Amino acid sequence: MLESRLNPIAKKWGYNSLETMTIALQGVPDKNLVTDIVEAMTTNDTSFFRDRHPFDTFKNDLMRYMRETRGKKKNLRIWCAASSSGQEPYSIAMLLKEAEVEYPGWNFEIVATDISHDILDQARSGLYTQFEAQRGLPVQLLLKYFTQVENQKWQIGQDVKNLIKFQYFNLLDSMTSLGTFDIIFCRNVLLHFDKATKRKVLGQIAQHLAPDGYLLLGEAESVSGFTDSLTSLPDHDDVFVSKDHPHLKADDRPENSRSSAQPIKPSATGNAIHSRFSLSPKKNTTTKS
Ligand SMILES: C[S@@+](CC[C@H](N)C(=O)[O-])C[C@H]1O[C@@H](n2cnc3c(N)ncnc32)[C@H](O)[C@@H]1O
Repeated sequence: MLESRLNPIAKKWGYNSLETMTIALQGVPDKNLVTDIVEAMTTNDTSFFRDRHPFDTFKNDLMRYMRETRGKKKNLRIWCAASSSGQEPYSIAMLLKEAEVEYPGWNFEIVATDISHDILDQARSGLYTQFEAQRGLPVQLLLKYFTQVENQKWQIGQDVKNLIKFQYFNLLDSMTSLGTFDIIFCRNVLLHFDKATKRKVLGQIAQHLAPDGYLLLGEAESVSGFTDSLTSLPDHDDVFVSKDHPHLKADDRPENSRSSAQPIKPSATGNAIHSRFSLSPKKNTTTKS
């Protein structure tokens, strides 16, 4: 796979083999060559409402919690940290549009970032083929928020686009300029990183998550072994919070949580996670679209 992705780049740049291109990269490589390699190496597969349950959790639990705790500020910052061609941030934005009557006067900001300039351009265009639109997008949301344009493509509406700021960002860089977020989606990217990189990225993310914020990772991803600052929610092992999260019950703290590979102890009040709401187990939350 590596060769089939990189051979065309070597050819384009006039190298007669991958080895000669590798030698050139060890010097001071042309930054356009590096960009070409990054574009060729990234895996951009995504879809609207991918895996569905994180979006149900976001809509049914996390947003309601934020409405209570951010009720005075009426401000919510969401980071979609590897947004690919935009289906993930647009899915979040459509859920916010659907719920907006319940949030009068609120300011929602979605920052969607990716390392690939090409994929960011695609995301910014908000233009999807019939095949892409059909993958995960409920038909009523397609008809409500998209218009059909030429070549059987679907164009997302400007009102949804306005909620999202797309920008280039490499997860390995300092996150200082990004600020703090209430909810972070960083899904299906960490699994491509080695252990040291996961440690570095998750350590930084933990610092940029509000103390009572939520981090959502992909199904095959975890913080376990990479940061001590975050822990998974019992019954929601793809949602992570600070170990001092105000609503994490004493007996659900890291030493008893899945991220420490310990069985979850049932709490005195059953399996409720938070004092003010409880997340339903993910296997039972799937909504039919
Ligand atoms: C498989 S897609 C996941 C998209 C979306 N989060 C989802 O779950 O459907 C992975 C994305 O991560 C991006 N990516 C890879 N390495 C990155 C890095 N170091 N910094 C930022 N984005 C990166 C890729 O360009 C790609 O668009």
